[in-house]
Amino acid sequence: MAKITLNGREIEAPDGAPLVEVIKNAGVYISNLCYIDDLPPYAGCRTCLVEIEGAPTLQLSCTAKVAEGMVVRTDSAQAAASRQAVLSLILSYHSDRCLTCHRVVKCKPGDTCLRDSVVTHRCVTCSKNYRCELQTTCEMVQMAGYEPWEGEERTFYELEQPEADHANPFLEFDPQMCIICTRCVRACDQLRHTGAITLAGRGFSTRIEFGAGGAVHDSNCDFCGACIDVCPTATLMEHPNKWAATETERWVSTTCTSCSVGCSISLGVRKGRGVIVRPDTTANPVSHRQLCVRGRFGYDAVKPSQRLSQPLVRRNGPDPVGATWDEALELTAARLAEIREKHGPAAIGFLGSPLATNEENYLLQKIARAVVGTPNVDSSAGPVARAACESLRRAFGSEVLPADMTQLARSKTLLVIAEDLESSHNVAALRCKDAVVNNGARLVVVAARRGELCDFADVWLQPRPGEEAATVAALADALRGEAAAGVAEATALLAAARDDESWRPLSVVYALPHLGAAEAGAITAAAANVAIAALGQEAAGSLFVLPQEANVWGMRDAGATGEYLPGYRPADDGAARKTVEQFWGAPVPATTGLTFEQMVSNGKLKALVVLNDNPLFFAPATARVRESLAGLELLAVIDSLPTDTANAAHVVLPDTGPFGKEGTVTSADRRVLRLHAATLPQDEAQPAWRILGELGSRLAQRLNTGELRLNYAGPAEIMDEIAQLVPLYANATYKEMEPGAQQPLDGLGPRKAELQPVPATPAAAQGYALTTGRGLYTSYEGAAVHSPEADRLHREECVDLNPADAKALGVSDGGQVTLRANGNELTLRARVTAAVQHRMLYVPLYLDGGAVTALFADGQATVPVEVVAASR
Ligand code: SF4
Ligand code: SF4
Ligand code: SF4
Ligand code: SF4
Ligand code: FES
Repeated sequence: MAKITLNGREIEAPDGAPLVEVIKNAGVYISNLCYIDDLPPYAGCRTCLVEIEGAPTLQLSCTAKVAEGMVVRTDSAQAAASRQAVLSLILSYHSDRCLTCHRVVKCKPGDTCLRDSVVTHRCVTCSKNYRCELQTTCEMVQMAGYEPWEGEERTFYELEQPEADHANPFLEFDPQMCIICTRCVRACDQLRHTGAITLAGRGFSTRIEFGAGGAVHDSNCDFCGACIDVCPTATLMEHPNKWAATETERWVSTTCTSCSVGCSISLGVRKGRGVIVRPDTTANPVSHRQLCVRGRFGYDAVKPSQRLSQPLVRRNGPDPVGATWDEALELTAARLAEIREKHGPAAIGFLGSPLATNEENYLLQKIARAVVGTPNVDSSAGPVARAACESLRRAFGSEVLPADMTQLARSKTLLVIAEDLESSHNVAALRCKDAVVNNGARLVVVAARRGELCDFADVWLQPRPGEEAATVAALADALRGEAAAGVAEATALLAAARDDESWRPLSVVYALPHLGAAEAGAITAAAANVAIAALGQEAAGSLFVLPQEANVWGMRDAGATGEYLPGYRPADDGAARKTVEQFWGAPVPATTGLTFEQMVSNGKLKALVVLNDNPLFFAPATARVRESLAGLELLAVIDSLPTDTANAAHVVLPDTGPFGKEGTVTSADRRVLRLHAATLPQDEAQPAWRILGELGSRLAQRLNTGELRLNYAGPAEIMDEIAQLVPLYANATYKEMEPGAQQPLDGLGPRKAELQPVPATPAAAQGYALTTGRGLYTSYEGAAVHSPEADRLHREECVDLNPADAKALGVSDGGQVTLRANGNELTLRARVTAAVQHRMLYVPLYLDGGAVTALFADGQATVPVEVVAASR
């Protein structure tokens, strides 16, 4: 640390740190219109001038580095005057009417300008008014009334301004507002490794361009919004709620629940509605300053009016009708009690969800086990997670791994096994790119389909769909010195990490699929083998198994899975069960429960309570699932949206949605992350924890369950209980919780590191093989209600087809094809792309509310399909 004097005050600062950051951190204002914290300085705007004792001229504080004894003044008359002069040059290319106006302090929103009427562009007509860094800079540098060019024509108002792109659904680009600070270029390039924005032209024609200078949509921008965050003007703006967000009333820290990375977001709220999202830089070291398009814009995927607003019950007719809470809850409790009486508790099932909070999943399984007395608790996300976790248990004696995703960016070697990590877990993919670009890491990708990460890979192994496990197993074998064909180059990179510390940390990343439990289990086993072969007993700390949905691990931790009570106590182990029974003061069933597949196929179930799950969207063999739901005597669904599953229900209990409730979710690397209620509930909707508490209490009364606790003042009390029962959550009580901290594994972590045989998966299809996965752009909430705008860019509403196959089938790009498999058909637009290999087809899972799952049978990750060209 060095001691420096800043405006007469002595402060300590890291030796060599950028002076501008030290000034800002000391709470002293300094204009810095082109600087981005933590990135090398660009030194283009010249607004950060300061006086440094001993220097012959004023210095740029963004290029100056802290040195012992430095004496710095930001407030000298000369520095202040120079900053004004520099800023006035910048303003000559900007719509500056309000910025330099002597009466700006008197102007209120909506006032008519009393200065001139010919100029329409000014702050009061700008969507960035009151949240604009250039505007603040002008205020702080006291530009009001500073007009050295008075009487002269102003360049900005003289030149014809370039066209704005207001058509994009996510990002608006209005180049006439640009001050060419290049922050956006550097953010896209250096923070996102995307390079969608360039600095084009020279002199007067210098400008910012997307791609080759066309529409934003035609560039390779993936709408992460990082450039919007750094743009100091209104040039780059969010399209949704652009105007509403000028009057953001408060900011609420919460968590994106669109994948298991669990990025922390700050949601700007106005009149009870979300209107803007920024990364919450304080709460989560993995996401830190970055989000993806889903985290940035997912809050706006459905409008409040599209959410369920009152309880619905199916009385006599086929259509559900509005009901009071009392009627809906009484009906549900009464029907469950009757069915239990008639068919026994095992005829009742409960589906939790990775879209629900830890507290809600916990409460659901408590009601199932301790009130109803059924062990049948699972989720449509259960089968894949279970298969992967069984492999982890064989390898490490535990499914709870200590891997920390902040390691990804620090890695020197990475093995990524994922269909398309960029799309499924965007910010995790970004951290892998960080490692390659900033840290010189070597990257091996195993993917049947090309994703953006392949462009960063040293080796891309491209197995046939369905042969991924065999490929990863071959890598593990080769690392252990056994002969393996076709993986020599990749093995050499992994072997270097094993043998040479300078190529570590090694990170092995596997993104779980939605479908295909057996294959997920096999790939997890193979990935664990690779990690163990390379790192031995340290392997578990470097293996990252990333579930698709937000809270898969939390759902399992909380016991919303048939084989484990909370805290991974085996349901069929007497001693473990006793602990839970004593804690709850109620008996729980002595067996493991039906799995999700069994619940929707064996006809034994008569009633099902569904919490935020949507099997008609996520589960394969949709026709069979629909039939089995239709055969139930009671289907009760708690959800905030009229999903297909909710629409099939006898009773629908409206939840408040992820931005309307308190709770926690547990990320892929086991950080317990808070959700805070930011938005107002839609009419009568209630958070699911309260619905469950009410339903559980009414049921307990009917079933005389005794003193079991089911009513809580809020999720904080539920978490207090979880923290006592599940050691992983010991530090997660709301009072003690450290935002974004990883769980303490406390006896539940890895106990060994053992190689295991990798089960053979079915041979790859000879004909066309269809796979599915998570697209980047389609929101779950939009897709779940079949919104035509679920994919606002309409980029993912098609089947990907290889050019050679398209030619053989006589289909051109944009033509229609029909896919047939397992007795079902799907007709959709073809996109001809080399991203899929020969004889491979890919349809995004979220297209039209999970329409493609109808083509898959239980357990299939890849389906042989017949392809018929419907039109060219
Ligand atoms: S970008 Fe900022 S400074 Fe420019 S007109 Fe808009 S609010 Fe004013
Ligand atoms: S939104 Fe993201 S990808 Fe698009 S230009 Fe901005 S930084 Fe680049
Ligand atoms: S678009 Fe914004 S961030 Fe990019 S150069 Fe212009 S003003 Fe700077
Ligand atoms: S990476 Fe995942 S958690 Fe992060 S913003 Fe994107 S969807 Fe949300
Ligand atoms: S911030 Fe120093 S020159 Fe722009």
